[in-house]
Amino acid sequence: MKHMLLEARNLSKSYGGRGLRDTGNSIRAVDDVSIGLQSGTAHGMVGESGAGKSTLVRLLLALERPDRGTVRFDGIDITSVPAVRLRPLRRRFQAVFQDPYTSLNPHLKVGTIVAEPLAAHAIARGTERQELVRRLLEAVGLPAAAATRRPGAFSGGERQRIAIARALATSPDLVVLDEPLSALDLPAQVRLIELLLRLRSERSLTLLVVAHDLAVVRSLCDTVSVMYAGRMVEEGPVGQVLVSPLHPFTAQLLAAEPMADPYASLPRPASGPPDGSWPPGACRLFPRCPLASDICLREPDLLETVPGRRVACWHPGQKDRATDPDR
Ligand SMILES: Nc1ncnc2c1ncn2[C@@H]1O[C@H](COP(=O)(O)OP(=O)(O)OP(=O)(O)O)[C@@H](O)[C@H]1O
Ligand code: SF4
Ligand SMILES: [Mg+2]
Repeated sequence: MKHMLLEARNLSKSYGGRGLRDTGNSIRAVDDVSIGLQSGTAHGMVGESGAGKSTLVRLLLALERPDRGTVRFDGIDITSVPAVRLRPLRRRFQAVFQDPYTSLNPHLKVGTIVAEPLAAHAIARGTERQELVRRLLEAVGLPAAAATRRPGAFSGGERQRIAIARALATSPDLVVLDEPLSALDLPAQVRLIELLLRLRSERSLTLLVVAHDLAVVRSLCDTVSVMYAGRMVEEGPVGQVLVSPLHPFTAQLLAAEPMADPYASLPRPASGPPDGSWPPGACRLFPRCPLASDICLREPDLLETVPGRRVACWHPGQKDRATDPDR
């Protein structure tokens, strides 16, 4: 039976200092975001650089504390739980980060790296632990002999497999992958997607996959969230959101894909992070939105406009002003 494995409510996180989206003297990296992950499903998260995806991931994994909001893992509030109760929970959610060159300690043998979570959670010891490591390496398509070598002996794709083996060591329910493929060449990306699909079905994992590349989300995920400037702007099944987007920003993301698509006539998103130049209190896409109207000077809430789909836009699903009879 599926259940809500991870549920975040109204999460906000600001970083001090002056800069982008400066509100006084801080940057609101994540602003009032709620998200829920059903067990056994794969959820994608997309958005431009600087949208707040990695910050949200760190909050969801309790690697950072939110300024506001809560995260519940299997019903337990991991934002307020004492460290002593959080520790055993941590073995149930694991992460794989973007850069396989910096996320693995170059001085340690791969066997030690993969065994790190086993040691941290006192799971197995001696030859039993070695056997577990061997099986984990095998599960990600690496030979047992890999355990005796150091990360420097492996390609980027192989290192990401090592990071995945390490993430799987504690038999977690949830694995969060933050841009797991961005540092890899295309053949390595394809092989890693195949691996993740296989692991997902074999281990009934719940996945959260952050990706720049919509194709990655299409091939791996059931549902997707779209972030823009610290806010969640659209959410729903991949087959709907990435086919007939309701939010103009999602349509822009699709238009920016290399392949020609039905939204090619919409303006492409500007490169780089959102510049924070929207009028105070307005929809954050206002300066870049082809559909913007006066009502958009009030920021829209994320609402369920179609069953199973949420969108934060006053004009959801409209392709351009000329074709909208209500405008
Ligand atoms: N530790 C930090 N200290 C200060 N500012 C931060 C910190 N982490 C993130 N930020 C800022 O918060 C905003 C969101 O950053 P974040 O890394 O979450 O975005 P992202 O969507 O993951 O981007 P990318 O696609 O480039 O990984 C950015 O403006 C970033 O500069
Ligand atoms: S609310 Fe208005 S400005 Fe914002 S995305 Fe929708 S149409 Fe564009
Ligand atoms: Mg990031």
